[in-house]
Amino acid sequence: QPCDIGFVGAGVMGKNLIMNLVDNGFRVIAFDLDQAKLAALVAQDEAERGDGPARVLTCNSYTDLLANLAAPHLIVVSVPAGSPVDDVCHKLVDAGLKADDIVVDTGNSLWTDTQRREKEYEGQFILFSTAVSGGEVGARFGPSLMPSGDPYAWTRIKPLWEAIAAKVDPDTGKPIERKAPGEVVAKGEPCAAYIGPSGSGHYVKMVHNGIEYADMQLICEAYQVMRDALDMTDVEIAAVFKRWNEGLLNSYLIEISAEVLATTDSETGKPLVQMILDKAGQKGTGLWTAVSSLELGCPAPTIAEAVYARSISTLKDQRVKASRLLAGPAFDKPAASERETIINQLHDALYCAKICAYAQGFDLMQTAAREQEWTLNYGEIAKIWRAGCIIRAVFLQSIADAFERNEELENLLLDEFFAGQISEYQANWRRAVANASLWGVPVSALSSALAYYDAYRTETLPANLLQGQRDYFGAHTFERTDKPRGKKYHVEWSQPGRPLIKMK
Ligand code: 6PG
Repeated sequence: QPCDIGFVGAGVMGKNLIMNLVDNGFRVIAFDLDQAKLAALVAQDEAERGDGPARVLTCNSYTDLLANLAAPHLIVVSVPAGSPVDDVCHKLVDAGLKADDIVVDTGNSLWTDTQRREKEYEGQFILFSTAVSGGEVGARFGPSLMPSGDPYAWTRIKPLWEAIAAKVDPDTGKPIERKAPGEVVAKGEPCAAYIGPSGSGHYVKMVHNGIEYADMQLICEAYQVMRDALDMTDVEIAAVFKRWNEGLLNSYLIEISAEVLATTDSETGKPLVQMILDKAGQKGTGLWTAVSSLELGCPAPTIAEAVYARSISTLKDQRVKASRLLAGPAFDKPAASERETIINQLHDALYCAKICAYAQGFDLMQTAAREQEWTLNYGEIAKIWRAGCIIRAVFLQSIADAFERNEELENLLLDEFFAGQISEYQANWRRAVANASLWGVPVSALSSALAYYDAYRTETLPANLLQGQRDYFGAHTFERTDKPRGKKYHVEWSQPGRPLIKMK
């Protein structure tokens, strides 16, 4: 009997997606160039199925893979983004893929690569993509899935993705937990929705990751203030995060931050975070988001600052030197009696800055969609991020509600709920940022979000002077406040009387 899906790539993500598919009753045949990965997959199936029959087949070549599938073939690929995806596509074509066969790329591919691939392989097979969020546990027990591309391919893949995706309880908006192998959640709203044409799913996932970077950095800044200004222990900070997780900030990232901080290093018996070197890694998706925001002229400073924060963290040796050379402020650290007040300020700052980071991410998706002529459903995107993915949080329901109130919402900050929230909590946000700068604790994401908020709500920015400067040294022209928009003017700065010229 032919299998339902051919799967290429049995690494951590691939193996877990396969096990999730077989839990849901799909027949999978897997191929990986690395025999050890296939052996690990078979071993996992054996361990999880008990006395039952084997649920995963493996094979030794792309030709074997196709031979075990019914036509038109459905092949899911889970390999690192970049050239490995093209390598697999070429090998599959060589093995005999046909024009109506479907290849689904589930990696963190650059969205423009996906667009290029769809065109490049047209006529050879249908390239479809599905961005996957949720890490290895998400892949195993319910990821958030962002599929995009050919609508026919979506009709084939939809039942599979809806079955394996994380599910949300429609009454509470909260994830339905699924943590054991063999378990299946048939009810609830699946965190898998068709995003749009080729590239859009990967774009949306890229922005998800940009928001993920910002969210993580904001939490890290709150941690640093508590650690360095309040001299709190890691265990004390873990307790604060745990408490925050019960309220407005409830999210997976806050939850795991509390867990990481509360973990003891098995080697030294010290808090584990003290043994982790403060040099952040990155694989590129946050950077791509920041680059895209710059290219589109759509401000996402908190996301960009989060990428920079990782960059500056890598300058460890320089920072060690600088820490001995460069003076900090001469302000006293706060008294212990002020601790609770400062923690509350940080809480509110984190909440407001988080709203701004999401506002930036959604604005970016809207701007890219206009440029690419995609019709994206932002309420739906917020909904599929409520469970399964790394930025999952009850907060996402409020974003979905905002877009339900107004499909054309230009910026989340203009939504009455979010505008109201920031107005309620901003005083503490400002205090937290001001205090951190007085104490010399860097809070680049918290403060950039505040600057974004203040710039966004300012009727007249100093760009009038900036335009004057540009016109002065480069005759770059400017528009006038008292004349119709679009009409350009220039001042002959070197002429007596500085005459105004109306440009043609
Ligand atoms: C997810 C994650 C996932 C991965 C990131 C990590 O949504 O499941 O975002 O895709 O963990 O790519 O990115 P960095 O290595 O760049 O932090």
